[in-house]
Amino acid sequence: MSFKVQPAAPARPNRCQLFGPGSNTKLHPKMAASAADVINLDLEDSVAPADKPQARKNIIEAINTLDWGTKTVCVRINGLDTPYWYRDVVEVLEETNGRLDMIMIPKVGCAADVYAVDALVSAIEAAKGSTKRIALEVIIETAAGLAHVEEIAASSPRLEAMSLGAADFAASMGMATTGIGGTQANYYMLSGDASSESRAVSYPDPWHHVTSAIVSACRTHGILPVDGPFGDFSDDEGYIAQARRSATMGMVGKWAIHPKQIALANQVFTPSEEAVTEAREILAAMEEADKAGSGATVYKGRLVDLASIRQAQVIVKQAEMIAG
Ligand code: COA
Ligand code: MG
Repeated sequence: MSFKVQPAAPARPNRCQLFGPGSNTKLHPKMAASAADVINLDLEDSVAPADKPQARKNIIEAINTLDWGTKTVCVRINGLDTPYWYRDVVEVLEETNGRLDMIMIPKVGCAADVYAVDALVSAIEAAKGSTKRIALEVIIETAAGLAHVEEIAASSPRLEAMSLGAADFAASMGMATTGIGGTQANYYMLSGDASSESRAVSYPDPWHHVTSAIVSACRTHGILPVDGPFGDFSDDEGYIAQARRSATMGMVGKWAIHPKQIALANQVFTPSEEAVTEAREILAAMEEADKAGSGATVYKGRLVDLASIRQAQVIVKQAEMIAG
């Protein structure tokens, strides 16, 4: 470890973030009753410009009147390049009764974007005399967001989570795709060369670099890294494959833009019984090794050592936090 110890991310479940437009009041009670850990009531891209004022009122009403249980309740405001965002923050914070947990800032491009929202939120909290501190989450979904991801992760003590927004990210990067996450047909490798008899096609992950950048920035600063939307909600297999890649890379959860994706996310981002059992066995094997004065041993024919303890603890701690 560096002399500077890696801070722990907030210990709350964030396996699935369920989105729904603030303009669609029919969905709000269903969102409240869902099995998602986090709820994102949206004022941004799922709400048409003419509907923004009414959507704010709907969201305030939903937050104040529905039973959200133990969920983390968040409102996604409009981007800082719009005329809407300050009213989103002011109205939602001034007119909700304390149940709101978090504000999500889309299209964040630099630390100053977060600073601006933090300043406004701080002033409103002080004016209201709130004792609860509203948290922030951000979406990395522009070229600037990726270029400045580390300063963004370090931008505010309110910051708890950072998501990858695949669609806007692709647009901002000039990527030749209209897909929202997942495999891209034109992003492939061929085995062999022109003289090969048959050439296998494989599909690398075009989201790998930005995912890794987000995870490393988040882990450095104690923030939860989250995978964003998967647009084709008829493709469960595709969603699961994307979610498993993200989980393997270190992300803690994924968005759902349709209720059928909630169970998929919860399943992928809850460590399986087998994984937890194996992790506990590795910890037990290392305890035995330690008693025998050894820093390494063999578990199921493979090396385990002190680093294996830290890997196994990630899985056990995640399982315990979710169960608790
Ligand atoms: N949250 C909770 N419930 C939802 C839901 C959501 N986001 N989206 C759909 N449902 C409900 C529907 O009301 C319907 O309920 P019912 O069986 O009681 O009638 C059921 O789930 C099935 O919905 P379905 O008919 O398959 O979808 P739809 O055509 O009504 O809606 C979308 C499809 C994509 C428009 C809708 O899911 C949606 O608005 N998703 C969120 C979009 C969003 O927030 N985007 C911004 C982030 S990228
Ligand atoms: Mg977006």
